[in-house]
Amino acid sequence: MTQHAVESSDTARSEAVSDALSDPFTPPAGSALWRKNFLLGAATASYQIEGAVSEDGRLPSIWDTFSATPGKVLHGDTGAVACDHYHRWESDIELLTSLNFEAYRLSIAWPRVMDEAGRPNRKGVDFYKRLLGKLKDNGVQTFVTLYHWDLPQHLEDRGGWLNRDTAYRFADYADLMSRELGGHVDAWMTLNEPWCSAFLGYGNGHHAPGLANTRYATQAMHHLLLAHGLATAVLRENDPASKKGIVANVGKSSANSLSAEDKRAAHLFEVQHNAWILDPLLKGEYPRDLWSLWPEAEPLVLDGDMRTIHAPLDFLGINYYFRTNVQSDGAHGYTEVPLAGVERTQMGWEVYPEGLRDLLIGFHRNYPALPPIYITENGMASDDRVSDGRVDDAQRIAFLKRHLAAVDQAIAEGVDVRGYFVWSLLDNFEWAFGYERRFGVVHVDYRTQQRTVKRSAQLIAKFLQERASRA
Ligand code: FCB
Repeated sequence: MTQHAVESSDTARSEAVSDALSDPFTPPAGSALWRKNFLLGAATASYQIEGAVSEDGRLPSIWDTFSATPGKVLHGDTGAVACDHYHRWESDIELLTSLNFEAYRLSIAWPRVMDEAGRPNRKGVDFYKRLLGKLKDNGVQTFVTLYHWDLPQHLEDRGGWLNRDTAYRFADYADLMSRELGGHVDAWMTLNEPWCSAFLGYGNGHHAPGLANTRYATQAMHHLLLAHGLATAVLRENDPASKKGIVANVGKSSANSLSAEDKRAAHLFEVQHNAWILDPLLKGEYPRDLWSLWPEAEPLVLDGDMRTIHAPLDFLGINYYFRTNVQSDGAHGYTEVPLAGVERTQMGWEVYPEGLRDLLIGFHRNYPALPPIYITENGMASDDRVSDGRVDDAQRIAFLKRHLAAVDQAIAEGVDVRGYFVWSLLDNFEWAFGYERRFGVVHVDYRTQQRTVKRSAQLIAKFLQERASRA
């Protein structure tokens, strides 16, 4: 090696080091994330950001009712104002585009767009038309979730997801939305995280509507999945050019010991969290092991339901956050045993990017019918504060980088992952935890509604700009 070569490689090395310090986000050269067709976006959901809960004809949802019930949400917070996005949508979209995001995942509030008789609420529909129109004008790809948990209260009053009829009402809603908004939507997602709707909503009562019975959870899940299948057929008919999918939250488990019982417990955790949703969608059947975990909780399934649920998907949305360590409960289930000494977020969730990689590779191997995947949510909460007009969210920057690297490794193993959405664009109403837990890459001061771009968002924007500028 000549003297010159040594010098230039030293310079390159020190440049790389100072780059890593000043920019701890940018993926390494050769990463799939540099590919322009790997979509990078941000995600939100209607109830968590919109506010304006009784404006322009919006009807009450189960989350209005639940959050108004004392003791259900931390500090008694509700989504009544949230990020006031219903009024600030234009500047919020300008903020999104100024951060160079290429795609935006949002959800439609069902109670805003349809009245009790199933007729459109024009003002609500027009809100989403304007919003999606502006995104399209700015070249942002639109990923639209139909149901991110804000069920109209009048449907809950008739049994909600325990009532099979709700699945048909959902198909009517999908019909209306795809006729009204077709052409403005690149990708439709029927449901966000049916596991949370079914289990947290009807199985343990931590989420709206707050019922707690395992039998309810499995029946609600069946009706949710049926709703998905019915709606997918409607969306295909009305809006053939768009992609159709669904979003599942998936969980990684570890066994607390090498004993067969604890390994079985870890397996059952993943059956309950992952296979409960993915098997019916991708294999057309519920996993048998679910009924050893929950004997006598099999839902009522009518002829033809599983075929409807098993309808082909154009993509699968995966939301991933953390790993759970479990042991056998001594009977037929599992209990959580929190690991000591691991990194955690403001939610108390373990930071475990390898879980995302391993789950993706596992799904790829176990489901021959697995469609292309988008990571539709990943991110973390931290107690972010504004100081001198800046928010330095160092833990989030490292978190995002490590999870993107995990996605990259899964892609290298052959998994077809097409994009990644950070949860969330804005700090927002984090369900039962209210406003205390901040997931945004943009900080929101709820007193003034002032938005402050966090350092994580600045670094994502910088990377996206650099990627776009490369030939
Ligand atoms: C997911 C939800 C999303 C958000 C994140 C933190 O379960 O889909 O709305 O609350 O968790």
